[in-house]
Amino acid sequence: MIRHYLDNVTLGLEALENGRKPPARFFENVCTFARTFTDRYHHFKEEHVLFVRLAEKHQGAIDAQLDALRHQHERGRALVGEVAGALEGYRKGDEQMTGRIVEAIAAYAALLRRHMHQEDHVFYPMVLEAFSGDELAAVQSAFAEARARSGERTFETSHALVTEMGSLLVHMT
Ligand SMILES: [Fe+2]
Ligand SMILES: [Fe+2]
Repeated sequence: MIRHYLDNVTLGLEALENGRKPPARFFENVCTFARTFTDRYHHFKEEHVLFVRLAEKHQGAIDAQLDALRHQHERGRALVGEVAGALEGYRKGDEQMTGRIVEAIAAYAALLRRHMHQEDHVFYPMVLEAFSGDELAAVQSAFAEARARSGERTFETSHALVTEMGSLLVHMT
């Protein structure tokens, strides 16, 4: 789901860079999804379940890398905050605020893409090897708990946000 989201964010950014103006609602969705799904659900799961268990397992050997990933989550939150902060101005057609959104979104999309690549293709495959089958099963069930706690509605709502982002771009003038 985050990948589909990121693809839509990138399309919105390209539109802006070409002087087109997606509706403000598009950027509201960018922020809402980032806060509710990416952060409250996905990053929470990583920071409070996976990173903690990985740190224990590797006894300090990967702390620097975990810190770097956590720092990227933080940086993402700050960039989303910048987008949210410039939205009011964007709605009013303020060029300076529009420029700010372009910069923040470009940085956010690049960061998220790099972060996901690093986690999925480099970091996780490397460090998960150290887990036994039982330990992996324990991680899975902790993830399932996090998912249940966040509620199935989080998925439906987040999916609807991403879909709406796509159609807002299609119907852009
Ligand atoms: Fe992450
Ligand atoms: Fe992740």
